[in-house]
Order: sequence, then structure tokens, then C-alpha cells
Amino acid sequence: MVADTRGRGLTDLRISLIDQCNLRCTYCMPAEIFGPDYRFLKRTEWLRFGELYDLVRAFTRLGVRKVRLTGGEPLLRPGLAKFIRGLRRFEAIEDLALTTNGLRLAERAGELAEAGLHRVTVSLDALDPELNGRMNGRGIGPEVVLAGIEGARSAGLAVKVNMLVERGVNEGEILPMARLFRDKGIPLRFIEFMDTGNHNGWRMDRVVTGREILALLATEHAFEPIDTTSSRMVAKRYRYTDGSAEFGLITSVSQPFCGDCTRARISADGQLFTCLFATRGTDLKGFLRSEEYSPEALYEKLAARWRVRDDRYSEIRTSATPKGEKVEMSFIGG
Ligand code: GTP
Ligand code: 5AD
Ligand code: SF4
Ligand code: SF4
Repeated sequence: MVADTRGRGLTDLRISLIDQCNLRCTYCMPAEIFGPDYRFLKRTEWLRFGELYDLVRAFTRLGVRKVRLTGGEPLLRPGLAKFIRGLRRFEAIEDLALTTNGLRLAERAGELAEAGLHRVTVSLDALDPELNGRMNGRGIGPEVVLAGIEGARSAGLAVKVNMLVERGVNEGEILPMARLFRDKGIPLRFIEFMDTGNHNGWRMDRVVTGREILALLATEHAFEPIDTTSSRMVAKRYRYTDGSAEFGLITSVSQPFCGDCTRARISADGQLFTCLFATRGTDLKGFLRSEEYSPEALYEKLAARWRVRDDRYSEIRTSATPKGEKVEMSFIGG
């Protein structure tokens, strides 16, 4: 398996299928920046499905076993189910997941499960309709997302829920969310607010740390850690002692996990990013469309890029990255 400068392999590929979204979450795509004049990618700029399959083939040869489809909002990409069906040919993919805001999930889940998707991770930040609507920038309450979650379960997809926690905004939702998803037996993951992109007004004092979240949960629930030392999972996992459900903490800010980071990301226009906080990517679309392209040459190009990778942004988070230069999370996916 190919390894980077710190000995990290490449096991996990995240593919952004589209940079657009039907929400405007304040911490991701604030409406005042991502307004009518914002220049999203044109359809003609997207990688075609055939090109994505060529990439996936090369990445599986490099060690990838886990593929996550993301966005923006991937359910907005036309032909998604067809694309998923085509991924079935890659037997090396052991885990095929999709990140979604859940808005259109209720009506799409059956089709996606049938196509071969294994699981979905749905974002939901609050149960209070007014607050949820404010956070997603579109005034949409939680009901439609909860219906999406139930639709996904009925279709046989495994479901996780991601909740971004921002101090002064939704920490009051931690306990209500924990109660609801414990009752439903669905893993809920609490995510520390990160300084992704250039527009979300991030400040350290807005981060509610995993440790604080844990202390709050302990006032109401009995739980124990799940040993994940052998896995490369982003989340620290816990189980309620009565076996009802598990939950997770994603402590990218207070306890970074760059040392275990084996993830590569492809943007919808075919750039390779080796870190969520990168300033620029490596163009693969141009290469795939050039005379130079062959499956072997692609494999070599990706391996060469990975071997020189030294990313560890969350470990060294400083003001070192100039403002305005980080890639947007909606562009490369969560
Ligand atoms: P599972 O495969 O279900 O375990 O998902 P995951 O744990 O990989 O996490 P998911 O894709 O649901 O992402 C959850 C959140 O974790 C993202 O929204 C990010 O906030 C954060 N995250 C995921 N990957 C990275 C990463 O490589 N670096 C950092 N800093 N944060 C990440
Ligand atoms: N910090 C942490 N997580 C974020 N997400 C989006 N923006 C941020 C941020 N600034 C998360 C969303 C969603 C996932 C895809 O990415 O909450 O669950
Ligand atoms: Fe859309 Fe997800 Fe970003 Fe919210 S976090 S704006 S749902 S891409
Ligand atoms: Fe990986 Fe970059 Fe996140 Fe560190 S900050 S875990 S290197 S994506």
C-alpha cells in the first residue's frame, strides 16, 4: 500500500459530486457569501461518471476500501443512482456511504439502496424548528430531515446523524438530540465547529469541545467508551450502558487526528485534495483528458502525490494559512 511522509496509507476516498446545496448552513455556506452571484461550477466542469470510475479504479489499487459520496448536497447531482450502480463493479469497496442534508432523502432512499449504497450520514443540528431553520439558513425545520432518516432506515440503509455544535448557538440542543437518537437507536456524532473555508466566522471560543459535550451528556446518561484503537475512525465512540445506541465525538479541533488521516478528497471538478484545509488541489481532470492518460500513468501520478503528502493542518492550526485561501468545505465535502 502507498504511504505518505508520515507512513499514513490511503484507505478512504471522498468524492464531491456537486458543489451546490439546497441549504445555506451558517457554518458552511453562509447565504450572504453563497448568494445569487456566487459562481458555482457549471455542469460542463464536472467530472463525468466514466472519469470518476477511472479514478476509483486507480484509488482501489492504491488501497482505498471506503468511498463516501458527498457535496455540497450529493442528492442534487443528476444520475446519482446510476453512478452508484456503476460502483458495484469495484469489489474492493467494502463501505459505500453518502453524506446528505436529508431534505430529499425520504423519496430517494429506496432507489439509492437498490443501486447498492450501504449507508447514509445525515446532518441535523437542532430539533427546535426556529433554531434549525436559522442554522440551515433556509428556515427549514427538522421534520423533513427526520422523515428522511426514517425513509433511509425503511429502505435498509444504515444511518448515522452528524450534529455540528457551535457555542452560543445550539449547545442547548445536545441533550434533546441525544435523547431522541438514543431512543431511535441511531448513532449521533457531535462535531466540533471547525475553521473550514473562509467565511464561517470561526473563532476558538465558539468551539464546544468534545470534553464539554461528554460532561453534559454524563449529567443524564450512563455510557462507556468503545475501544477504537485499532480502527482509523474519525469519531471517538461511546455506547450507552443499556445497549440502546452509541454516539460519537468528532474532536478535530481539541484533539486532532491527523496522525491517522488516510483520507483523500476529489472535488466535483476533478481536483485531488489531500487535506480538508488545503489551499489548492492537484488537477486530475486535465490529466484524465490528456494524451498522457492511461490507467497505469494515473496510478503512478496518484501514488507520487500521496508519497509526498505531509498534511497535518489540525495539529498545527495557526494563522499560517492566509485568510481567503482555504478551500471551501462545500466544495470538497465534509
Ligand atoms: P464514518 O465513515 O461514518 O465513520 O464517517 P466519518 O467518521 O469519516 O465522518 P463523516 O464523513 O460523517 O464526517 C463527519 C465530520 O468529521 C465532517 O463533517 C468533518 O467535520 C469531520 N471530518 C471528517 N473527516 C475529517 C478529516 O479528515 N479532517 C478533519 N479535520 N475533520 C474531518
Ligand atoms: N465544522 C465542522 N463540521 C462542519 N460541517 C460543515 N461545516 C463544518 C464546520 N465548519 C459538517 C456538517 C455536516 C458535514 C458534512 O460537515 O455538519 O454534517
Ligand atoms: Fe449544505 Fe451540508 Fe454545507 Fe449545510 S453543511 S450548507 S447541508 S453542504
Ligand atoms: Fe487529515 Fe487534514 Fe483533517 Fe488533519 S486536518 S485529519 S491531515 S484532513
